[in-house]
Amino acid sequence: MNAPATSHTLTQTIDPASLHDSYHSVRTTTTGLCSPLAVEDYVIQSAPECSPAKWHLAHTTWFFENFLLLPLLPGYRAFHPQYGYLFNSYYETVGTFFPRPLRGLLSRPTVEDISAYRAHVDHHMAALIARIDPSRDADAIQRIVLGLHHEQQHQELLLTDLKNLLALNPLHPVYRAPAVAGRTRAAPASWLEFSEGLYDIGFEGEGFAFDNETPRHRAFLDGFAIASRPVTNGDYLEFMAAGGYRSAALWLSDGWRTVNEAGWQAPLYWQSVDSQWFHTTLSGFLLVDPEAPVCHVSYFEADAFARWAGKRLPSEQEWEVAAASLPIEGNLLDSEQLQPSAAGNASHQFFGDVWEWTSSAYSPYPGFRPLAGSLGEYNGKFMVSQLVLRGGSCVTPRSHIRASYRNFFYPRDRWQFMGLRLAR
Ligand SMILES: [Fe+2]
Repeated sequence: MNAPATSHTLTQTIDPASLHDSYHSVRTTTTGLCSPLAVEDYVIQSAPECSPAKWHLAHTTWFFENFLLLPLLPGYRAFHPQYGYLFNSYYETVGTFFPRPLRGLLSRPTVEDISAYRAHVDHHMAALIARIDPSRDADAIQRIVLGLHHEQQHQELLLTDLKNLLALNPLHPVYRAPAVAGRTRAAPASWLEFSEGLYDIGFEGEGFAFDNETPRHRAFLDGFAIASRPVTNGDYLEFMAAGGYRSAALWLSDGWRTVNEAGWQAPLYWQSVDSQWFHTTLSGFLLVDPEAPVCHVSYFEADAFARWAGKRLPSEQEWEVAAASLPIEGNLLDSEQLQPSAAGNASHQFFGDVWEWTSSAYSPYPGFRPLAGSLGEYNGKFMVSQLVLRGGSCVTPRSHIRASYRNFFYPRDRWQFMGLRLAR
């Protein structure tokens, strides 16, 4: 294989022992996230855009089998001849794949089968990693690290999709008991000011980044101000009380059509009970906390809220400039709250809690080149009709997020942990 033609190489000093530790840590984190599940929870697909937990477990394993073991480990044979078809997500150059909306109809392979698949691939990945010579195998190291970041993305998706599944259930199942934390008030909102000028945008430095964060380039920004915290549920309740969902003038045309077709009156998972708003969380059906960041709103809702507030959404460049020098800390997966919270921090909640919608279309940076070969399908082919979100959420692993990280979703999507922050 040729080395991928991008600038985001890992450091070449990664030794097999630390690679093995990282691999073990990420893989066991994924299975640990499944430990509260009953076997039935693994199988169901609650929406076409969601995947069963079982599929996430198998697909992340297929990634290592297909991109590492089959091409690089001499003598390795696929665990099952049809798993490539079942667990390839969207790599057209690898082969055909099972239709995504039907993933929840597969009772076989069983959860036990997939557990055996993971064990098989882990065993052989250990053998592959033991053979790696850092001075010679930069490409293999890059692929392993990409596979680990890919699996971290699916850790977040696993919890996101599980929440969607549990929200359908009138029994309000609890994935994990609520974290014991005192109720916190949201920090008062203020404005962080930035002057006009040329700014460097995109990933730079040691360590991992996805190809879509490169190349680093300059962008001119007019002077701007960005809010010191995300919009809260309390802020959003004011928008709702002011008739936000009934005022066509606040909405983009596609958004207004969606509001009417889908009957939106509140963020996803919200339900009014005796004139009080409750919502589904991974810790059960709880009263909406007005101090916490609003979550599960689409781009259309974020945009309408900003218009109602007389402000706007930041561009992704503005967001990155504001966040670039802040420590990566916040309510991320590692805090185990699994729900946005009001706790402010030195990073002004730029990291964690909710992915923040920006006004920026997801498109290639100037000079962007996707990874070589099939892995070039990872990001580049999705660069149309979606919008960029920044900052990570309460279910994003801490070691997975950066100021330059670009997430992307369609404007009507809201099942991810999505919120917003204002700019002016
Ligand atoms: Fe994937």
